Amino acid sequence: MKDNVSITGTAHSDRIHDSASKHVTGAADYTDDITLPEGTLHAYLGVSDVAHATLLDIDYTDVLATPGVIGILTAEDVPGVNDLSPTGRNDEPVFPTDLIQFHGQPLFAVIAETRDIARHAAEKAKINCDVLPHALDPIQAQQAGYPHVTAPLKLERGDVDGAFETASNRIKGRIAVGGQDHMYLEGHIALAIPGEDDDIIVHSSTQHPSEAQHMVAQVLGVPSNAVVVNVRRMGGGFGGKESQMNLFCAVAAMAAKKWNRAVKIRPDRDQDMTATGKRHDFVIDYDVSFDAAGRIEAVNGSFAARCGFSSDLSGPVTDRALFHADNAYFYPNVRLESHPMKTNTVSNTAFRGFGGPQGVVAAERIIEEIAYATGQDPLDVRKANFYGGKGRDITPYHQKVEDSILERLVEELETTSDYRQRRKDIMAFNETSPVLKKGIALTPVKFGISFTATWYNQAGALVHVYNDGSIHLNHGGTEMGQGLNTKVAQIVAEAFQVDFEQIKITKTTTEKVPNTSATAASSGTDLNGMAALNAVEQIKARLVEFATRTWGVTAEEVSFHANHVFIGKDILTFAAFIKQAYLARVQLSAAGFYKTPKIHWDRAKGQGRPFYYYAYGAACSEVTIDTLTGEYRVERTDILHDVGRSLNPALDKGQVEGAFIQGMGWLTTEELWWDNAGRLRTHAPSTYKIPLASDRPRIFNVNLADWSENRELTVKRSKAVGEPPFMLGISVFEALSMAVASVANYRACPRLDAPATPERVLLAVARLQAEG
Ligand code: MTE
Ligand code: MOS
Repeated sequence: MKDNVSITGTAHSDRIHDSASKHVTGAADYTDDITLPEGTLHAYLGVSDVAHATLLDIDYTDVLATPGVIGILTAEDVPGVNDLSPTGRNDEPVFPTDLIQFHGQPLFAVIAETRDIARHAAEKAKINCDVLPHALDPIQAQQAGYPHVTAPLKLERGDVDGAFETASNRIKGRIAVGGQDHMYLEGHIALAIPGEDDDIIVHSSTQHPSEAQHMVAQVLGVPSNAVVVNVRRMGGGFGGKESQMNLFCAVAAMAAKKWNRAVKIRPDRDQDMTATGKRHDFVIDYDVSFDAAGRIEAVNGSFAARCGFSSDLSGPVTDRALFHADNAYFYPNVRLESHPMKTNTVSNTAFRGFGGPQGVVAAERIIEEIAYATGQDPLDVRKANFYGGKGRDITPYHQKVEDSILERLVEELETTSDYRQRRKDIMAFNETSPVLKKGIALTPVKFGISFTATWYNQAGALVHVYNDGSIHLNHGGTEMGQGLNTKVAQIVAEAFQVDFEQIKITKTTTEKVPNTSATAASSGTDLNGMAALNAVEQIKARLVEFATRTWGVTAEEVSFHANHVFIGKDILTFAAFIKQAYLARVQLSAAGFYKTPKIHWDRAKGQGRPFYYYAYGAACSEVTIDTLTGEYRVERTDILHDVGRSLNPALDKGQVEGAFIQGMGWLTTEELWWDNAGRLRTHAPSTYKIPLASDRPRIFNVNLADWSENRELTVKRSKAVGEPPFMLGISVFEALSMAVASVANYRACPRLDAPATPERVLLAVARLQAEG
């Protein structure tokens, strides 16, 4: 009888990350921890020290004379196609043949007995080139007539020009929004091990094993079936390992094939920062018209991005900036244009939010502008412009916003954070405090979930049940600290109704699940969780069929519960039942598949439904600035974030907290700075400041909107969480802006670019004071 069985619970929800203790004790294996095969060689990149030049020749005499150096690898050693462009544009050579396009560009690799030897020898090459003029930022590039690296996007709806002609109020402005280095704890790395014939195995820290496989095959001139790419876990990726590891995989693989030895490549932090792409910085021009109540009538926005020397992912990144330039607000008439500018800098790439955050910053700036112009509380302007109601639910890309929960979510946060009273108190404080000034801001986020490249929204999984009842789980997603493997294992454990410990989480490998998408766009769980579930359902269907046949019961009389299988009046442990199924020759393995329904996107028309659903959130931050030094601190942040029905509140809260802090760092202290020669001077933690534990808000209240559930069919009605909360950091930026505005009695919206470093805060204060 069911009632007589003592069963252990299989509640999985608040489980900690499966590798949490291994991460902190050093027991978690990363690519650098893999035991090296006998005779492994080490590679290091030689890079350019000019930003733009015709490459004449390179003299390797001193490099090759260095004891321990085995040889060099140049463009001439590429057996296949000398291109790593993730979108097939053929604009990103492994090593260039005749043109240097940025300061720090990899030109060759040195292969040596040790990494130190390779690294020091790489500096001994004499590079002979004819220097050309360079353009470093998008404005310089536009002035110099540089091309777009990829086709711009235009989103348009309504009659923008007409609306401006009859505009009651109009503001034009510009904001520069900085880039960001990924600062993953584990940098780029690849270890290539040659096999017989064409074969090669590459271990790498990558968010996109299938693309690494494809690139290695392309560069080696072999079919994809000769290449295996493996990753057990990453020490952080944040988008920086979506395409940027291709170079390291290709170099290690080429060298491994050339010398028939295992080859490992691991740049030091400076080279990792200078030779690999970052978040795109943007210069955004906006033009907005609005009525006396602060309701937006029309928006015209131009988004120029520093893309670097090649297209990389700049197309989809700048597209996503436009997709989020409305954030939570309805624009009755709108025109948005991207300008993905080629520049003589490292090629920028994916970074948490994938251009979305830059778009959201613009939307929030527009709101602030209107609030200062109309003398309103910015929160009231926000609410007046939220999507909602008939005729106010269409985005600039013509997708209908059907699932907005922002009104309720913001209302709740407004109450729990005591926003209105604190704002009053802060304004009173500012009146009497001559040096220290405070600011507060409550900003919302709406973030679209799905890859905008529709075909990316597919996933596979492979599940084996061994005949002792233990389960082997493999899926196409990669683990970078976000807890994807834990979540997918929870989903499988729950579907089989067995303990989490029964599930073995294994490395991601192109051998088990083919043609995977990058683990990106926050869709890891939505896609791979569903694919794993599909595999489990297949196996369970066979098991149920076996049970009905063998026990002579109906399918309804078979159920899985708490490590047991209930068949009519019989109760077996899961393991005992599996053993019987095995003996009866039931197939206990399945490949699962999933593709996201409903989505479509016509880029040429700028219309479609690129997103399956939206994730929402809001944050309220309070800051204090010192008007004599520009220094500041975050006093308190309250967050209410929507993850639908949380699959794992502990992991989800971790994502929300981490994303907020990373977003705050982007908009406050993390500044990338190139000198006039095009050399990145912020190239290590010594010169590039990410938030420390001591920079966190003094009071930090983080909550999930536990009443929310996804209207669309996802795993248990959950929502993606990886990127959306990154944009909650904007509340800190706008709170800083308010503190600055206080020095001129909030008459003007401060001219404040991001990141709002202490220097920029000080300058903004001084400018307002000078204007009197
Ligand atoms: N969390 C940790 N700890 N480390 C990371 O590298 N990357 C972020 C986010 N959270 C990241 C992270 C980014 S950019 C994305 S797209 C998602 O995780 C990817 O994983 P998911 O789709 O499983 O959420
Ligand atoms: Mo995340 S930027 O989509 O890897």
